[in-house]
Amino acid sequence: MDNQKILILDFGGQYNQLIARRVRECNVYCEVKPHDMSLEEIKAFDPIGIIFTGGPNSVYAESSPHPAKGIYELGVPILGICYGCQLLSHELGGLVTAAQDDSAREYGKTSTWFDTSCTLFRDLPQESITWMSHGDYMAKVPQGFRLVAHSKACPTVGICDEKRRFYGVQFHPEVNHTQYGSQMLRNFLYNICHARGDWTMADYKRRAIESIRSKVGGGKVLLALSGGVDSSVAAALLAEAVGSQLTCVFVDHGLMRKDEGDEVEQAFSRWDINFVRCSEEQRFLKALAGVTEPEQKRKIIGEEFIRVFEQEGKKIGSVDYLVQGTIYPDVIESGKGEAAVIKSHHNVGGLPDFVDFKEIIEPLRMLFKDEVRQLGRELGLPEYLVMRQPFPGPGLGIRIIGEITKEKLDMLRDADFIFRQEIARAGLEPMLSQYFAALTNMRSVGVMGDGRSYDYAIALRAVETSDFMTADWARIPYEVLDRISVRIVNEVRGVNRVLYDVTSKPPATIEFE
Ligand code: XMP
Repeated sequence: MDNQKILILDFGGQYNQLIARRVRECNVYCEVKPHDMSLEEIKAFDPIGIIFTGGPNSVYAESSPHPAKGIYELGVPILGICYGCQLLSHELGGLVTAAQDDSAREYGKTSTWFDTSCTLFRDLPQESITWMSHGDYMAKVPQGFRLVAHSKACPTVGICDEKRRFYGVQFHPEVNHTQYGSQMLRNFLYNICHARGDWTMADYKRRAIESIRSKVGGGKVLLALSGGVDSSVAAALLAEAVGSQLTCVFVDHGLMRKDEGDEVEQAFSRWDINFVRCSEEQRFLKALAGVTEPEQKRKIIGEEFIRVFEQEGKKIGSVDYLVQGTIYPDVIESGKGEAAVIKSHHNVGGLPDFVDFKEIIEPLRMLFKDEVRQLGRELGLPEYLVMRQPFPGPGLGIRIIGEITKEKLDMLRDADFIFRQEIARAGLEPMLSQYFAALTNMRSVGVMGDGRSYDYAIALRAVETSDFMTADWARIPYEVLDRISVRIVNEVRGVNRVLYDVTSKPPATIEFE
């Protein structure tokens, strides 16, 4: 039996992916789709409920986005959030206007009162904090609707028509600042849409394996393994599904962190697959010798990577399927315009037109990162692989400013290892989104024992972020920084100074190059 589905219609809000993640956390499958999805497509999708997201527009503006006509006659429950709530109201005969005086606009945490006889707020307190972000408000609610939530500034924070199962809230239940937001979504899913809660990773694993087996048959499958979470989980899933028909090519470019290559190889040793580890440190170092310009370094690493993969692909001969670890956030149509190229990203996902293959398999295409991790656990991958922080394709190559040499790589590997060890010891891992050491190109004078030193400075970088587009530097306690610094200058030869990067993104980026 197929999973029950919630349809999330995207009206351009900034928290849309978060809504989808919250729904899935309630064990209900959902997809985010463009707001102009046609009625036929919606019917074919066959949702048990629909959520209208927030968005930057005003419903009364001429160019504002609307859903397909006829959506209100489908008999499917609808929850409108922020713009989505105003949309419901506007389209069903209410009146939405710009808040005339500033006091009716609401931004941020707001005390809100609820009518808990409304199913959306069932079993929740009558007063709690919600997260608001709206400049428009509903001056008149449509016929058949009643008011079920208000704040000091706004009498129309929540509306419902329980007969037609239409609900609207001006605040954002999906963000953590809304105290009982998850419970409200749960009420919508379970008590209004009557979800069964059939979305679990154990079940997904079983279905994915079945579908991969029936697609691949006896064919040959090739996968470029980077050691990152996505490609590792994709590899484990394929290994479980088709075993020895799978070849994983793991290009070890010598720019990995300490022991990383061995850890990856070890994790896959339990499956009977063809695991090819290409240790190509020399090749990469040679190609990078004397190169200092960051973009040029990135391009060289990306190109060499493809060359190595190509070489291995040729040895294997023609393959039927190529696997890519694409995940859902890359798939959702973002509707964003062209952005300036800050860095040319190198991803194993972006590969090749050189290996002869029939089709691409993307088994993680509909999963969020936290679901990918969960699936990894289901497949028995070790926790350190599943919880691995993001590591860029060009590896330590973009964490050494200036020319890359073997000596510098070893120095950086050791310093980075100490940093990670101490962060783990201090129990800070869950608080940090990414943290690593970088080798600056700066040497400075120090005193060691009774002698003068003229050695490198290591920079420590640790950030907190939810989307990696913006990030704040992490406030690591001084005592922890102190321990790390003392250990690095004592244990890593060639380093006599440790700096902590206190720059957010923007203006800095997370990586140094
Ligand atoms: P920046 O440095 O642009 O990094 O703030 C944002 C996030 O992207 C990662 N990153 C990369 N990931 N290939 C990747 O797969 C790349 O070339 C690459 N460059 C940066 C970075 O580690 C951070 O998580």
